[in-house]
Amino acid sequence: MLEFTVNQTLCTRCGECVADCPARIITMAAESLPAIAAEREAACYRCQHCLMICPYGAISILGVKPSSCRPLAGSFPDPERLEALIRGRRSIRRYKPENLDPQLIQRLLDVAWQAPTGKNERSVLFTVVDDREKLSRLRHEVMEALGEMARGQRFPRGMEFFGHFVTLWEEKGADILFRDAPHLLIASAPCEGASPVPDCLIALSYFELFAQANGVGTVWNGLTTWALFDILPGMRQRLGIPDSHTIGYGMSFGKPAVRFARTVQHGPARVNRVAL
Ligand SMILES: Cc1cc2nc3c(=O)[nH]c(=O)nc-3n(C[C@H](O)[C@H](O)[C@H](O)COP(=O)(O)O)c2cc1C
Repeated sequence: MLEFTVNQTLCTRCGECVADCPARIITMAAESLPAIAAEREAACYRCQHCLMICPYGAISILGVKPSSCRPLAGSFPDPERLEALIRGRRSIRRYKPENLDPQLIQRLLDVAWQAPTGKNERSVLFTVVDDREKLSRLRHEVMEALGEMARGQRFPRGMEFFGHFVTLWEEKGADILFRDAPHLLIASAPCEGASPVPDCLIALSYFELFAQANGVGTVWNGLTTWALFDILPGMRQRLGIPDSHTIGYGMSFGKPAVRFARTVQHGPARVNRVAL
């Protein structure tokens, strides 16, 4: 049940909701208000575009009312500052040994979860290690298990280089895997979804940018992702990630112990301009 309601006092029948509906299920017969026929409700993307686009705040759907939404006019960041964020974002590999405020972590996750998903499935699952003590236990567990694999020469083919990380950990206490970060985020999504891996990667990209805008450091973590899900058995269960999920990627995060002074110079972009 979509609970699609139109305030007849506010609605001017401008047709924006009809025109913008990606599923084309909103109709507006002569003289009447926009409506969704009961038999078309199942086709709704649940994207809330109708609610969002209405200039007059006349539409509610899925129990969401315009009055509970944030007005958009004038609230986007200016392009200069957004460009500075994108150009100034860096992989952080030195972290302060302290937890982030749990409320901040929740906000970062809630904002990242706004990212687009194929067919608006919204099924990305964020698995989070939100406490540095827990991450410390995971780190020790992983390093120990990798150490046993190294000694038994049991790494999967192509993953033998993890033996070097174990040596650095055992001999110098250097954590090349988790980068000493206090927190870890893993995005996963149901295998049978329309686009589980892109959904996860987009959500993590949003997380990364919003985190860095909040002074929180991040690093995409391929090594940890491989260790947890391609090398060590049982880690998916240990972390409570459903068997039915595809792993998107892992990302370490926490309060940075480093401050960058300027952007790097990458580019210009590689572009293939189509000459048809
Ligand atoms: C998919 C992906 C996986 C990565 N895995 C790791 C990793 O396991 N460990 C690490 O320290 N950095 C990792 N990085 C960070 C890259 O090395 C980094 O983005 C690159 O060196 C450029 O630096 P910058 O992010 O500061 O611009 C990864 C980045 C991406 C996009």
